[in-house]
Amino acid sequence: MSAVKVKTWDDLVGEEYMQEGHGPSWRAMVSQIVEPSLKDAKILDFGCNRGGFLRMLYDAKPFKEAIGVDIACDSVAYANAQKGTRPISYAHNDEIPAHHGSFDFAFSHEVVYLLPDMDAHAREIYDALKPGGVYYLVIGEYAENPLWPRWYSVVSEFSPVPPQNYSLNDIATSFDKAGFDIAINRLNCDEFFPYTAGGDRYIKNPMELVKFMREYMMMFRLVKR
Ligand SMILES: C[S@@+](CC[C@H](N)C(=O)[O-])C[C@H]1O[C@@H](n2cnc3c(N)ncnc32)[C@H](O)[C@@H]1O
Repeated sequence: MSAVKVKTWDDLVGEEYMQEGHGPSWRAMVSQIVEPSLKDAKILDFGCNRGGFLRMLYDAKPFKEAIGVDIACDSVAYANAQKGTRPISYAHNDEIPAHHGSFDFAFSHEVVYLLPDMDAHAREIYDALKPGGVYYLVIGEYAENPLWPRWYSVVSEFSPVPPQNYSLNDIATSFDKAGFDIAINRLNCDEFFPYTAGGDRYIKNPMELVKFMREYMMMFRLVKR
């Protein structure tokens, strides 16, 4: 799937806030990975933004090598500057075809609602993975989430990439067609969540925050057949 290039997905303040706000769900993802070790694995993070997930994953469960890709060039440059000595490189999506069939795992967190063609995304990840490779896809923005209709309008206003309106079944159907076995669970976010008094452009009160983090965040485990 070819992708446009944008400077940043969000404004810089928004991206910094996102890095902090995503900590609880990144930690839940890491603890829900079924595989006991990733030490020999090559990993793809699709829609990596500023690269924080792969840095956290490496520090918790070291891997052999990883590539994070994003359409936002400034975010990728920031991610490369922050990686330290970890075996990670960050690049634009155009880099993926050079690694076809070589990834053991792919991850995405809060990305697929921004993709215009879910079938094409499923095929792209299928091609990127080795046979038996696993894609952990985490998403909170989907049609069955009761907060989503309101958020859809907010994202439509500020995002350089227009949001879509996929159901969980739309996602499952695209990955089934592409050749994946599908499993799903709630993302088990179970820690204290930072809350801004008075709410923000998404979360209007503490109950919404807790419901979103504990009930609506979903984690697919998609295995390439
Ligand atoms: C809500 S942010 C999530 C970022 C990151 N995964 C995280 O957990 O913080 C969505 C990201 O998806 C990226 N994105 C949007 N469309 C994309 C596409 N077609 N290919 C790759 N990345 C994309 C955006 O630039 C942005 O960095």
